[in-house]
Amino acid sequence: MDTKYWFVDKTVENLQSYPQLVEAAQLLKEKQAVAFPTETVYGLGADATSDEAVDKIYKAKGRPSDNPLIVHIADEVQLEMLAEEIPDMVRALIKAFWPGPLTLILKVKKGKLSQKVTAGLDTVGIRMPAHPVALALIRLAGFPIAAPSANRSGKPSPTTAGHVRRDLDGKIAGIVDGGETGVGVESTVLDCTADTPVILRPGGITKEQLEEVIGEVQLDPGLENENVARPKAPGMKYTHYAPNAPVYLVDGGVPFMQRLIDERRENGENVGAVVTEETAGEIRANTVAVCGRRSSLETVAHHLYDSLRSFDDQDVDVIFCETFPRKGIGQAIMNRLEKAAGHRLISENPSGR
Ligand code: TXA
Ligand code: MG
Repeated sequence: MDTKYWFVDKTVENLQSYPQLVEAAQLLKEKQAVAFPTETVYGLGADATSDEAVDKIYKAKGRPSDNPLIVHIADEVQLEMLAEEIPDMVRALIKAFWPGPLTLILKVKKGKLSQKVTAGLDTVGIRMPAHPVALALIRLAGFPIAAPSANRSGKPSPTTAGHVRRDLDGKIAGIVDGGETGVGVESTVLDCTADTPVILRPGGITKEQLEEVIGEVQLDPGLENENVARPKAPGMKYTHYAPNAPVYLVDGGVPFMQRLIDERRENGENVGAVVTEETAGEIRANTVAVCGRRSSLETVAHHLYDSLRSFDDQDVDVIFCETFPRKGIGQAIMNRLEKAAGHRLISENPSGR
């Protein structure tokens, strides 16, 4: 398949009359899959009401069909169309965080969406993205758009159109290039069907931010300790976000990390390191990726996937990566890093302090 490529300047007014977006929307209407930018990561979109269209997403990504997709909407009318009920708590969340990086799991109305979107569940994940290109595309299409992250299954999510091209060129109808995404990690997935809402996937909106608006919020126990329970978001059980070389998370100081790197290099291995600006000057490895500033974890989220992907161009045998406090957006960062590392963690002080 010949993948079309459109550049769209997200700052122009009246994006809905942009010929490139009109063409992209036309392909969506023809039940094709098209990648587009959101404020979190690039999504691979298709008509959420059509089995034929949604099938193309699973095929292009190589995604297991038991892993449901997030439905993207552009206004609250579409929400009313899809959700069986909208509790007051959900209305408060929408007021505070939409459009934005928060996916709400709600009871789905029967017959409104392709069964393949929900993977047979009686709930659906819905979000309104805070990106002018995404919103314009949904409006032009006229239907809700199912969109997982636009990567091959298992790879880090794409934060640039170049990442999407690398994974999906020739496999999808088109890519809308709207520049780099903002947040850099995916939306927070919040299950709103229980009395106390549960975070199934930490993301762009933090637990602290949610609790300010609606009070107590739980973290899915499966996220904190794999042995306790299976994570409830089907997607959280798969290996994810992984570069080609194995990743090890390092909990310790700079000299400890350097020692780990040196041991491998003495064995003749090519070693990569993911570090922050604060330590970049002190760490020596074959390839060093700087993933942002420790003093501002938002910058780490923004650069995380590009840093992980950067090693796939280099011939590294192993990657060592710094760890971060699980506060605020740090929760999402550590969740993705643990999955990228398959939970391999090397601690300088294993028993804790
Ligand atoms: O930021 C994002 O959310 C991006 C952009 C493109 O919007 N999308 C995204 O989609 O990350 P995806 O498919 O890569 O991740 C969706 C996650 C998966 O872990 C999936 O299992 C979970 O949401 N999910 C979707 N529907 C669900 C449901 N009904 N119940 C529980 N988990 C659900
Ligand atoms: Mg994904």
